[in-house]
Amino acid sequence: MKTILEQITDIVSEAFGKAGYDSTYGKVGYSNRPDLCEYQCNGAMAAAKTYHKAPIAIAEDVAGALSDNEAFSMISAVPPGFLNIRLSKGFLAKYLNEMKESECFGLEKSAPVKIIVDYGGPNVAKPLHVGHLRAAIIGESVKRICRYMGNEVIGDVHLGDWGLQMGLIITELKSRQPDLPYFDDKYTGQYPEEPPFTLSELEEIYPSASARSKEDEAFREEALSATKQLQKGERGYRALWQHIIDVSVPDLKRNYAELMVDFDWWKGESSVDPLIAPMVDDMKKKGFAHESEGALVVDVAEESDTKEVPPCMILKSDGAALYTTTDLATLLDRRQTFDPDRVIYVVDKRQDMHFVQVFRTARKCGIVREDTKLDFLGFGTMNGKDGKPFKTREGGVMRLERLIGEIKDTMYKKITENHPADPEEAKKTSETVAVAAIKYGDLSNQATKDYIFDVDKFTSFEGNTGPYILYTIVRIKSILAKYTESMRSGEEQKGGLPRTVAEARNEAEKALMLEISKFSEAVTGAYEEIAPHRICAYIYDVCNEFNRFYHETRILAEEDERKKSGWIALLVLTKEILEKCIDLLGFEAPDRM
Ligand code: ARG
Repeated sequence: MKTILEQITDIVSEAFGKAGYDSTYGKVGYSNRPDLCEYQCNGAMAAAKTYHKAPIAIAEDVAGALSDNEAFSMISAVPPGFLNIRLSKGFLAKYLNEMKESECFGLEKSAPVKIIVDYGGPNVAKPLHVGHLRAAIIGESVKRICRYMGNEVIGDVHLGDWGLQMGLIITELKSRQPDLPYFDDKYTGQYPEEPPFTLSELEEIYPSASARSKEDEAFREEALSATKQLQKGERGYRALWQHIIDVSVPDLKRNYAELMVDFDWWKGESSVDPLIAPMVDDMKKKGFAHESEGALVVDVAEESDTKEVPPCMILKSDGAALYTTTDLATLLDRRQTFDPDRVIYVVDKRQDMHFVQVFRTARKCGIVREDTKLDFLGFGTMNGKDGKPFKTREGGVMRLERLIGEIKDTMYKKITENHPADPEEAKKTSETVAVAAIKYGDLSNQATKDYIFDVDKFTSFEGNTGPYILYTIVRIKSILAKYTESMRSGEEQKGGLPRTVAEARNEAEKALMLEISKFSEAVTGAYEEIAPHRICAYIYDVCNEFNRFYHETRILAEEDERKKSGWIALLVLTKEILEKCIDLLGFEAPDRM
């Protein structure tokens, strides 16, 4: 189904043609003077040059050709040559009814491609912290948007499970429990099935190992060598590594599930280890990789670079693989298993240079198909109210679990303050609202920008917040429930909710309908620009217009049944659209709050 702008553009273009001008001048956009009109066309200004005519004369010709068009309640030529347009209520109602009847509200899907979204990037054995929050929130939404547009999409968690942190844990464990069989070279039997640590022990081991490595050079050396031995396949270390994964991954999954984030692939840096050696050989053989100060590098600088892009390091001088190496091998693996048309990375924007190097190397060495699109959506930092990276009150790194817990508590207090509620239900509701508060607070900002995580603001029921959006949906649900209830008690009116949206009867109703009609543009825009905030902006406008309409209209008390059922149909559409949009953002609404 064509978007509302496309449909209006078609009508105006035809009129340009009819008036004797080229129809390509008929492009219509939203008005930047909403006080004067809803849409505008500036084509007469451009046409003036071609036809050596005053723009206003052209605009008047076109307006004349459209004077009795049923789509518009107003079309006027305004100096110096604008066409100001208002839609007729009939056309608008018809458009909304078409949306209602169409699959995905008439959204035109893109030609389907295979997309991998790489988001998450948590590091095994290190608890999730707020730095991982943005990747998870933005990536989940990007994945859902891509999927809704008709693409085949895979979300990959891309665990950090192959680096120095593994060597640190192994080394720390060795110094604490040297008698474990994993550290005995001569041991040839089966290793125990039970891991030698619990999750909370593991979470304590990593930070102390990390701290120790900063003070104790010998310890650090040992950890580096343990990392290398692990990567080489040392049996005992591999077994320990597996224990670390088995203990950490279920916890990661639980944390992500709480945030309504879920991945299709639980692959990690480790899973591509076997691909590294042949990949590196190939890069050498083809002459792309060369030695530089002992290390193996690929030159990726380009003449047009405005800042220096250093060569991409593939192997360190001791032969160890790096972060770039695993990312390149992962691209190779993805090509072999999924052959994607596009890979989107949702990672902290401070890793920008890393991805420039990886993408260029992948292209140069033919690791990806020539036509594979590689996108880096680098997000900004989540700051505290002081404008510095978000920390706990004590100044430490804020763990994700704790942050979510605090927001849930805040929501619980607010919800139970509002009205007496069953504690169980209030708990569930506060969890749902907390997720919305956190996610919307993040997603409503342009991803690339830093933003301030402001608990008071994000948890407020007023303003541009998640709870406000949910509150609006809950309000609609409650009106619809009451309506259904009254129908059930009425004798004759059986059957489902009314389906047909009627022509608007007041300005607020029309304003709501105009807002709703922008759905396709919002979703397509969010997809094309990889920008979930476009959907937030859309639903915030829809909610504002809905609430204005609600305050001005006595819906359930309306005695004219036809009027009432038109409104109910409009409410149903509003609710369905809002629910779809929050699903694309990755959260849901409770029934009551
Ligand atoms: N584990 C990395 C980190 O914590 C993020 C991984 C991002 N994804 C990737 N394919 N490099 O910094």
